[in-house]
Amino acid sequence: MLVCIPNILSKSEVASFRAVMDKATWEDGRSTAGAQSALVKANEQLPPDCEIARTLGDRIITALAANSLFRAAAIPFRIFPPLFNRYGAGQKFGVHIDNAIRGDHLTGMRIRTDLSVTLFLSEPEEYEGGELVIEDYYGSQRIKLPAGDLVLYPATSLHMVTPVTSGRRVASFLWLQSMIRDAQARSMIFDLDSAIQGLADRHGQDDREVVKLTGVYHNLIRHWAEL
Ligand code: NI
Repeated sequence: MLVCIPNILSKSEVASFRAVMDKATWEDGRSTAGAQSALVKANEQLPPDCEIARTLGDRIITALAANSLFRAAAIPFRIFPPLFNRYGAGQKFGVHIDNAIRGDHLTGMRIRTDLSVTLFLSEPEEYEGGELVIEDYYGSQRIKLPAGDLVLYPATSLHMVTPVTSGRRVASFLWLQSMIRDAQARSMIFDLDSAIQGLADRHGQDDREVVKLTGVYHNLIRHWAEL
């Protein structure tokens, strides 16, 4: 399941992120890549432990926590501190798979990476190329979103960023562990949730069947959740 969520950050928040990031010191993106990914990765990153990355990362996590569509789709348990990258002309990230487990040595947090997020911080017209290509059951999805929007996709997918041919692509990316490990179970819970919302809009929150289905929703989470 691949979900695009608009307006996680407003345009003015994006502008304030970009102003801070433009003044930061960037490093070679291969610093956080495994041996296999390092072979196909050509970009720059903010050092993961630097003050700027941590401060901006906290602002993203606050914005994610406030977004009901994100919470419904991801059912997040732990969110790994967001990272930040940029690709200039000629840079790319070839096809790869993300590591299954991520550890943060500042906080000691360790997560299983169930879901990946890319939050776009450049407008599509600021650069050519630089599409996020995600391979899923239905073929390749090519993603390039407005600044402030994100895509949520299974971390089990092979994916790549196509070469940027001009301009600069700036983004944040992060992984999270969901309370619902199984992707199909998580997808069914998300579908059930949105169907209940639709029924509640038509018949009212206190409609007997809406209440009953809400019970099924929570009982499925009880059944499947791992904390
Ligand atoms: Ni990746």
